[in-house]
Amino acid sequence: MRIILLGPPGAGKGTQAERLVKKYQIPHISTGDIFREAIKAGTELGKQAKEYMDRGELVPDELVVSIVKERLTEPDTAKGYLLDGFPRTVAQAEALDATLQEVKTPLNGVINIEVAQEELLERLTGRRVCRSCGATYHIKFNPSTVRSVCDKCGGELYQRDDDTFETVKQRLEVYQQQTKPLIDYYEKKGILYTVNGAQEIDAVFQEIVKFLDKFVQS
Ligand code: AP5
Ligand code: MG
Ligand code: ZN
Repeated sequence: MRIILLGPPGAGKGTQAERLVKKYQIPHISTGDIFREAIKAGTELGKQAKEYMDRGELVPDELVVSIVKERLTEPDTAKGYLLDGFPRTVAQAEALDATLQEVKTPLNGVINIEVAQEELLERLTGRRVCRSCGATYHIKFNPSTVRSVCDKCGGELYQRDDDTFETVKQRLEVYQQQTKPLIDYYEKKGILYTVNGAQEIDAVFQEIVKFLDKFVQS
């Protein structure tokens, strides 16, 4: 199953991806996570990406596309994958289409998670992430049992550098300008499925699973 999770910052892409990859046993490919790993490791890629991420801007297409292209040649993607946060511009979507056409493995579906702007701001500024395993929490909507400690691995929870009020506002603006057009792009291809992301985490998950089990072959 080759699918994309589309949606504004804070829609719940990472949260749903965590659950979906467990259920369907496919790799989770998040460009945001790849960049954060690179920043942590202090690589050249990390240095380049950080400049854009800290401003709430998108990392240039060429850089992102080449990373994803390479990732998609790894053997674990043979059984499918879940893309999270990529593509994010029409140019990235076109590059992905071209790559997948070459290897004759088209996308099976694009899940668009819809959530109103006001809600996104609260979700992002209250988000906490595990430093060790990457699990995502929210201080109000999805708190860990013990404050600042990951339920899954005991790791320390932290707040992402780009989850400050000002940067979040910029990211939401960038989404409107550069990423939202992808809804139309995939709608025209007939593979878009929109879910209501303003429900409980489990309810959103069930809605996605219902769609995948009905329309997407494994
Ligand atoms: P990235 O890491 O992809 O961030 P994003 O797209 O801004 O999305 P988020 O991770 O912020 O949100 P999410 O939808 O995953 O929500 P989550 O599940 O965590 O990208 C970061 C940066 O990297 C970009 O700004 C850009 O600079 C760069 N970048 C990455 N990819 C790129 C690309 N392709 N091209 C160019 N640049 C790129 O949930 C959010 C919070 O809400 C959590 O606290 C969660 O617990 C809570 N929550 C989730 N679901 C619910 C629910 N149903 N109800 C209540 N609370 C919920
Ligand atoms: Mg995410
Ligand atoms: Zn953890």
